[in-house]
Amino acid sequence: MSISSMKPPRKCFIRLFIFLTTAILIFLLLGCQYTHHSAEEYAPSSREGMLQCLRRHPNFTTMETLNSVQDYKEFFTKVQVVMNCPWEGNLTKKELYRMELRSFCNASQRLFLTQENTREGQRITYEAERSFSKTVGNEVFHMLPKTAPQWTEGNLGRCAVVGNGGILRNSSCGDEIDSADFIIRFNLPPMNYSSDTGVKTHLVTINPSQITSSYRGLLYSRKSFVERAASYESATLVTAALSYTANTDIAFRVFYTMRDMRPQQAVLFIHPDYLFKLDHFWRQKGLAAKRLSSGFLLVNTALELCEKVDLYGFWPFDSLQQRSLLHHYYDNVGPVKGVHAMPEEFRRLLQMHYEGVLQVHVKECH
Ligand SMILES: *[C@@H]1O[C@H](CO)[C@@H](O)[C@H](O)[C@H]1NC(C)=O
Ligand SMILES: *[C@@H]1O[C@H](CO)[C@@H](O)[C@H](O)[C@H]1NC(C)=O
Ligand SMILES: *[C@@H]1O[C@H](CO)[C@@H](O)[C@H](O)[C@H]1NC(C)=O
Ligand SMILES: *[C@@H]1O[C@H](CO)[C@@H](O)[C@H](O)[C@H]1NC(C)=O
Ligand SMILES: *[C@@H]1O[C@H](CO)[C@@H](O)[C@H](O)[C@H]1NC(C)=O
Repeated sequence: MSISSMKPPRKCFIRLFIFLTTAILIFLLLGCQYTHHSAEEYAPSSREGMLQCLRRHPNFTTMETLNSVQDYKEFFTKVQVVMNCPWEGNLTKKELYRMELRSFCNASQRLFLTQENTREGQRITYEAERSFSKTVGNEVFHMLPKTAPQWTEGNLGRCAVVGNGGILRNSSCGDEIDSADFIIRFNLPPMNYSSDTGVKTHLVTINPSQITSSYRGLLYSRKSFVERAASYESATLVTAALSYTANTDIAFRVFYTMRDMRPQQAVLFIHPDYLFKLDHFWRQKGLAAKRLSSGFLLVNTALELCEKVDLYGFWPFDSLQQRSLLHHYYDNVGPVKGVHAMPEEFRRLLQMHYEGVLQVHVKECH
């Protein structure tokens, strides 16, 4: 008989206990590493990993349309691959986009209605209702700035284009956004989530429909609207007065409200021809939507005007890696169905990210 077998049972239990604990620890460690591994599968830790990253980069233009896809699983896997690889800019490709957009849409000269690109008495066709036009009378002419803002000349350094997606909530991206040279926001978003969204703004869009729904069309008290506008400090407000006939008066009320109550903040009208041409530009590339979203639209503007374009808050899906997301970073109100083709637009943005033309940020910032 060996000595060990003669040990008292208590010692045996202790050994068994130590063995089991070690086994469980090892199991847990391996398990953790395994799950970690699958999440970071494409994270390059070496030149080897980097090469693998390049090889595995999916090509988003070869995918079938996202509008008809019910199950985004495969798409999400591809996104995962792209987002876990380091982003590399391609100035050549970026310049090609800039030149193409410039020759087609010409944001530097045609983004806004100005006294330079509009004559008094000119009839301007509505962007979305082509059988209607607006004659630029004396009063309307004097609502237009003499020239386009200087920043449309096109040397806007690094631009942060900040969408309102729920992906921004708890992202801690505020400081990174604020460090950009020019910051674009959409649809008068609330600014009280500053650690996620930053506090600075240079341009903010207004959707005429939100003036009707949230500010009673500016027919009654204008205080809450003016307060919201003031939360963007001196940022330029931008709206589309000549896309739909029903929006013209609303846009003009925005203009007069600001001129009378906060003249230090300009209101500019997007040129309907710019929107029309941009829509045509993407339609011929196969992007069919009833309307391009204002987010997508101004990303294109930024590609023309900025040296580098960084996107935050663009993620038009209700979850990411099993984490469910709000529709907006500030509420959970969904869009009117059938107007925009957000997933399709997003696919184009991902393609540009992959090509090194712009950078889409969906991860938390550090
Ligand atoms: C992606 O696929 C499209 C269509 O097949 C092709 O024209 C394009 O060259 C591909 N791009 C890359 C970078 O492979
Ligand atoms: C950058 O883009 C150009 C034009 O599409 C392409 O020819 C070149 O291969 C790209 N460079 C890299 C490093 O991908
Ligand atoms: C942009 O518009 C301006 C004024 O209409 C014009 O002078 C300029 O040549 C245009 N640029 C391009 C690339 O078409
Ligand atoms: C954001 O983080 C806070 C604090 O950790 C948490 O209570 C909240 O549920 C998070 N919100 C969302 C939408 O994830
Ligand atoms: C921001 O303001 C809204 C409405 O005024 C409020 O409901 C929300 O809780 C605020 N959020 C934060 C993070 O302060």
